[in-house]
Order: sequence, then C-alpha cells, then structure tokens
Amino acid sequence: MELPKTNPTTTNSWNKLTQLAKEPKTLQNYFADNTSRAAQFSIAWDSFFLDYSKNHIDKDIQSALLGLANEVGLEDARKAYFSGEIINQTEGRAVLHTALRAKENADIRVEGENVVPEIYAVRAKIKAFANAVITGERKSSTEQAFTDVVNIGIGGSDLGPAMITEALAYYKNHLNVHFMSNVDGDHVMEILKKVNPATTLFVVVSKTFGTQETMTNANTVKQWLTDALGAAAVSDHFVAVSTNFAAINAFGIQSKNVFPMNDWVGGRFSLWSAVGLSAALAVGPENFEALLDGANDMDEHFAMTPFEKNIPVILALLTVWYNNFLGAQSEVVIPYTQYLNRLPAYLQQGIMESNGKSIDRAGRAVSYNTGNIIWGETGTNSQHAFFQLLHQGTKLIPAHFIGFAEALHGNKGHHDKLMANFFAQTEALMKGKTESQVRKELTQKAMDKAAIEQLVPFKIFTGNKPTTTLLMHKLTPKTLGALVAMYEHKIFVEGVVWNIFSYDQWGVELGKQLTSVILDEMHNPGQVKHDGSTAQLLARYKS
Ligand code: F6P
Repeated sequence: MELPKTNPTTTNSWNKLTQLAKEPKTLQNYFADNTSRAAQFSIAWDSFFLDYSKNHIDKDIQSALLGLANEVGLEDARKAYFSGEIINQTEGRAVLHTALRAKENADIRVEGENVVPEIYAVRAKIKAFANAVITGERKSSTEQAFTDVVNIGIGGSDLGPAMITEALAYYKNHLNVHFMSNVDGDHVMEILKKVNPATTLFVVVSKTFGTQETMTNANTVKQWLTDALGAAAVSDHFVAVSTNFAAINAFGIQSKNVFPMNDWVGGRFSLWSAVGLSAALAVGPENFEALLDGANDMDEHFAMTPFEKNIPVILALLTVWYNNFLGAQSEVVIPYTQYLNRLPAYLQQGIMESNGKSIDRAGRAVSYNTGNIIWGETGTNSQHAFFQLLHQGTKLIPAHFIGFAEALHGNKGHHDKLMANFFAQTEALMKGKTESQVRKELTQKAMDKAAIEQLVPFKIFTGNKPTTTLLMHKLTPKTLGALVAMYEHKIFVEGVVWNIFSYDQWGVELGKQLTSVILDEMHNPGQVKHDGSTAQLLARYKS
C-alpha cells in the first residue's frame, strides 16, 4: 500500500482552517472564556503530561485539524508505516525503525519475511559484546581492558548515539565514550590526544560505509593505531556497524566484529539499531534495552490512540497549524535539563532532513510551506541567550518546553529553581506585561514622570506567545526512548499531511558531488570552470 497522495490544500478542512486563522483570539482570552481549557487541552500518558493549552487553538480549530488528518488519510498511512509497506517510495524501501524496538513476539514482514527474529539476534549480539567490553572480558591487542570507545560516524550515525550517551550520562559506566564525526582533522586529533591506543575501541558506524567524512576519519585512525600497535591490532580494536559488508571487509574489519543493520532503517532513525552500539557500551545493554522499550510504549500509544488523545498527532497538527495557517517558520525546543543538551541538534537532522522537501508525493512542486526550522538549547541557559527574541521579537515561534518533575541527583533546591524558571517562562510568554502594569511598576520606583514615559514602550511585553509543555516524571532510559519516538512519529504525521516523502534525503547529494569535484580540482587546478566567487575563493585557499 502506497501512502495517499492528497494535496492538503484541496481538503475541506484546509479551507476551514484558512477561515479560522482569520479570527484570531489571544491566549489570555481563550483562558478567560473557558475555565476548563487547561484540562481540555492536555494529555496524560504514562509518565508524560502534555499541556498544549497555551497554544492558539480552540475546539473548532482542533477539530478542523483532526479533520485534516482524516482527509489526508492519516489512518491508512499509519497502518502502512507500522506494517513494513514501501513508504520510502523514492528509495524503494520500507521504514521500520519501529520494528527495531518491537516486542519479541511481533511479526513484521518485509517482502514476506518476519524481520523480528533477526532484530533480536542483533540485539543479543550487542548485549553480549557490550557486556564483554564493560566487564573487561573482551581485551585489547595488548591484553588490557578497554577504557575508551570512539564512535566514528556522522549524521544519524553520530547524532543519535551521541545524544543518547549524553542524555543518559547519569546511568553511565566507567567507559569513556567519544564521538568523532567531522572530517575536520583538528577534531580527529583532539580526540586521539585524549585516548591511549592500547585501551581504545573504535566503532565505525556508517550505513553505507562510503561516507567521505567517516571513511577518511576511520582510515586516519587505523593508521594511527597501526603506527602505535602494528597492523595486527586493527582486528582487536575496530568493530563496524553497517549494511555494506564488502566495504567493511575491504577496510579490514573481521566479520565477527560486524554489527549489521538493514536498509529499511533510515540513518536519522537508526539509533535503535546497532548504530546505538556506542550508547549501549556507555550505559550498559540493560539501559539500552529500556530505551527501546520506552520507544515501543510510545509506538503503541501512537498506533492505537484516537487522534484527539494521541500525543504525536496533536503535536504534529499544532506544527501544521502554525506553519501553514499562522505563518510561523520555526519551532524552538527547550529542554530544562542539561542532559538533553544534544536533543535540539539531534532533532534538527530528524526533522529537517525528513521534512525539508518541496515536491509532493505526486511529483509536483508544493504550493504551501512544509518542514519548519527547528532549533533550541537547554533552559535556563537559553533564557540568557535567545529568550529576548521570544519575548519581545517580531517572529512567531512556537516553543516546546520539556521538563522533569524529579532531578536525578536530588538537589531539590536546584531543581525547584530550574523548574520555577520552566513554569515562569511559559506563563510570562503567554501573559506578557501590559502598559499599565509597566507604568505602575515604574511609578513604584520613584522615577520622574518624563523618564517613566520614555521607558514604558520598551518594557511592555505583548505576551500571547505560544508554548507547549511536556512535563515528565524523571529522565530514565525508558522516558527518553518514548520522548525520541514521540518526535519520530510527529515527523511522520507532518509528512503525511504535507503530502511529501519524509524518508529520503536527496537534498544532501548535490553538495557531496561538488565536494568531490572541488577536491579533485585542488590537486588538478584549472580542470573545472567555477563561478567567479567560487573560483576566487579557491584561488585564495591555494595561495
Ligand atoms: O548526508 C546525509 C546522510 O546520508 C544522513 O542521512 C546519514 O545519517 C549520514 O549521511 C551518514 O550516512 P552513513 O551512515 O551512511 O555514513
């Protein structure tokens, strides 16, 4: 079954939403008009509490958005997504990151074959290997226990495991896990500076095993290791995660040290596969399994729950509302925990590589906005950086606030301060500060009248800025798995509504092609005719 190809702008709901967008109300008015608004626009699920009442919606808007989801065929699309249909049509592949965390007795078929037994075989291999490295049973070429792990990979082969490793730092064991991604030689050397070749394990992660950055870095590291310990050490110090066994073999990694992945998992959704090996090494296989279980819980919620109580569906429809009807270009994600420092970067690949498309599923240019820009930074740090623009700037930027009721280390005093900021900011963004409030405050400061009048306009906050709050109990591997899966499903729903293919990424190819042309050109000058600007810059680089 293919995904439906409905142009969303041709639906009745789209027309309705266009009308509704012309009747704006303020958030404060919405609350004043409906005393049960907070409860009506909230969803409690597992340890999640989603309060989306501080958004520019009401019952009519919500039901038109849900109508849109129905009219574009979300129900059938959701079935196709979970059942291994070839929904990544332009690459001819199924999209089955959900199968990677399915229950062992699940039956999920790709071309007639149940893929779950193979998934569990790889999971068992990850578990055994991670335990052997963590306990020191698996030794280096010098018969020592490994102390460090370096993940060599980029994009989905870096961002997922790096984000998870940082997010679950509280659950970490003694292994120092590093992430080498950029082809920047300085980045490579700074990591190598920190590790001892005799006790370092290198995990080369590349779905294709052909990515320029990863292969360059892996070869540099291989040479470094060979210089230090001899060529024979490579087999003890390198393992690989990939679909490309021939290339792994050519690189010199033995097949027993290969962790396979499948072409039906996209790079940016692959952390649940063997791509998560470095994270499993960092936090131990039990925590990695709990992460997968949490994601599976969210999969079940997304697959079974009616749209109006379905967290990813509601979040995606809010994005559609802001993006297509209220003119928002971006969305900001602000986690109030330092552990989720890398979540915005991770989501940038997930969201923008998936939905940054302008051709619809029928192959025509779209006439409406698709993928929004995603950005963010932890709170409270970001309050002292970009919040000025959220409070008093000219842009409409819907914000996701992510927080936890409990801190991991206790420190109640700190946590109360952190969370007081978390709650205060969403309230301040909504309520703002009126002219009369500003005047009153300044008057109490005993300032002279002229100075007060001069200052008043600058101190007004218009408020009415939308926020969605996700409050969870505690940051555990399980909660994190559910949180990441929530965003994955949000991406899927948006793609279905926008009638685009979310699971290819042709847009990254052109830059790669021109890079290889320019690299050749650096060694054979004058072979290619460049535009004036590029030619001038290249000449400067050579000189
Ligand atoms: O260039 C984009 C991309 O293809 C991503 O989609 C992917 O996550 C990344 O490169 C790395 O690819 P690979 O795992 O094949 O090295």
